[in-house]
Amino acid sequence: MLSRPRRNRKNQALRDLICENHLTTKDLIAPLFVKEGNDPREPIASMPGQFRYNLQELVDECGRLQELGIPCVSLFPALSDDLKDKKATESANAQGLFPRAIQAVKEKYPDLLVMSDVAMDPYSSDGHDGLVNERGDILNDETLPILAEMTLIQAQAGSDIIGPSDMMDGRVGHLREALDNKGYTNTSIMAYTAKYASSFYGPFRDALESAPKSGDKKTYQMDPSNGEEALREAKLDAEEGADILMVKPGLPYLDVIYRLKSHSDLPIAAYNVSGEYAMIKAAAEKGWLDEEKVMMEMLLSFKRAGADMILTYFAKDAASLLASR
Ligand code: PBG
Repeated sequence: MLSRPRRNRKNQALRDLICENHLTTKDLIAPLFVKEGNDPREPIASMPGQFRYNLQELVDECGRLQELGIPCVSLFPALSDDLKDKKATESANAQGLFPRAIQAVKEKYPDLLVMSDVAMDPYSSDGHDGLVNERGDILNDETLPILAEMTLIQAQAGSDIIGPSDMMDGRVGHLREALDNKGYTNTSIMAYTAKYASSFYGPFRDALESAPKSGDKKTYQMDPSNGEEALREAKLDAEEGADILMVKPGLPYLDVIYRLKSHSDLPIAAYNVSGEYAMIKAAAEKGWLDEEKVMMEMLLSFKRAGADMILTYFAKDAASLLASR
């Protein structure tokens, strides 16, 4: 045998030399949930180790994440039912929980990047990302101005990166124009480009109590069967001014990450979603998987697939582990 691939694996030093992909803390974005009021944080049952924080706790947690070297947090508001309505009115409240949270974090930790979610579902009594009519249709063009309004409120509060997770057509261009018109030319957009109609979002919907009241999200989120279609979405988002393209979920869609990375010259993000987190936590609790090892292997797989950054509920654990090495 002239070629023996095992020769390059003979010890750790050599394995380090030939190592193709590295995971660093600088690749990580930590999603966090903030809730109204002063009551202490509430654990999210289906996401062990994740919480709905009150505003002060959220700021403190952001400080700990920054201390660990995590460059960015992605914030989501958990609102009580009485603040939800069909038009997501609360999303346009400049004194609302979400803009106050963004502002508080940026005030205390100006160097920590804050990404903020744009979609109607946290504020919608229908639990959908867009406006719902009497027939149950999700209205695309009528939703865009609502998204633009919440975008401007988040930008004004100091958000560094707007994250439209709604999957309405044309929203990236619409939001870019709205931002530019108000002078927020420096506010970035990370487009949820290939967001699939996935069952892996269950625990997140528990966290926000935002599950659709009727129907599903299949008329706006992508069919899990499709890969080519992600390229079409990517092309549109790039043309409309997206700064970063995201694939979501992550683990079941590594091929899509790879495709987008190969076809686009924009940075690619992977969203390692709530269900992926829950699977590992549950298996680890049962003693069936080694949580730390599986977590690191999974995060590395996103890098290998081509992701430049990873949104993950494991951000803090991974950063702590990397810091201890
Ligand atoms: C909705 C939104 C969802 C997630 C982020 N934004 C759920 C959904 O589309 O129903 C899921 C994130 C996760 O599961 O971790 N705008």
